[in-house]
Amino acid sequence: MRYMPITKVKEGMSVGQHICNGEGKILLEQEAKLQKEDVQNLFQMGLPGIYVEDDISWDLKVPRLISRELEREALRLVHCLFQEEDFREVEQEDIQETARKITRQILAGRDKMYHMVNVRVADDYTYFHSVNVAALSVMLGVKTGNLDLEQLNKLAAAALLHDVGKRYVESDVLNAKRSLTEEERILVIQHPKLSYDFLMEHFNFSPEVCDGVLEHHEWYNGCGYPMRRSGYEISYFARIIKVADVFDALISKLPYHDPISPSGAVDYILGNTDSEFDPDLAELFTRKIAIYPDGCEVMLSDGRTALVVENDSEYMLKPKVMALPDGEMIDLKSEKNLAVLELFV
Ligand SMILES: [Fe+2]
Repeated sequence: MRYMPITKVKEGMSVGQHICNGEGKILLEQEAKLQKEDVQNLFQMGLPGIYVEDDISWDLKVPRLISRELEREALRLVHCLFQEEDFREVEQEDIQETARKITRQILAGRDKMYHMVNVRVADDYTYFHSVNVAALSVMLGVKTGNLDLEQLNKLAAAALLHDVGKRYVESDVLNAKRSLTEEERILVIQHPKLSYDFLMEHFNFSPEVCDGVLEHHEWYNGCGYPMRRSGYEISYFARIIKVADVFDALISKLPYHDPISPSGAVDYILGNTDSEFDPDLAELFTRKIAIYPDGCEVMLSDGRTALVVENDSEYMLKPKVMALPDGEMIDLKSEKNLAVLELFV
């Protein structure tokens, strides 16, 4: 399986991983052969790329923090919470159970790095984002070594719910390509408080969960919102979610920006420690991010293109790659004069 930017996706290619929408509904099954109209639909839905299966990548597996099945379950749950009436059918236990599953899977693969999986329908960004931020937050929570199982489960729940207040913001405002009116801007920046109020009114989560939600847009230097808290005044959960939230937003295709590469997102986070982010958490987080994710195509410094096949967390810039089209395997760790020049995403 390999990642294929949408501009290179062609009729006849085989889908490497099912493609679902923000409700968790499968739009294209794994192994489906793409028809001409599928390619057009994928493009119109704003997917930056998809995973495909081909002769050179058939045995390449791309590591995931959580399974596709669990991702769909979590998407269904988050989507329900955003619906006017459906949310009443969601019990707190449903959220906690999904949160526990996320934690369990991440603990089971605790040594895994995060390999960008940016296969998302653009208009359903908030649902995909909520699920991915939950996985990334727990990944970081585990990495800190400071949280026990119960706390990790709570962190997963807080991260799943962090943007639920956006249910009160019209989708044409959330997905606006234009600049927002002052009234719309105020509504958008109220969403952490709206999320908090929603949880207080309809559920009974612990203060750790609720504060993690309320404070996820606070900045470490006190310049965030809604309460302009700073440093350790901001809850631990919120400082974790903040890093995961910004990283995921940066690598995503949004109405107002194209996705940036994992290395660009890592640079942004490391360049904004002390201002936006808790420096210790930011540094720990970036050590878990594959700069050149498995399954992605890169250009090497000798001009060849290659497929990333394996990462080593100790040597982030030196993955194992397969040169194209001949299939020569190259371990960049042992190649002093060869490096990755560019990632194609
Ligand atoms: Fe948010």
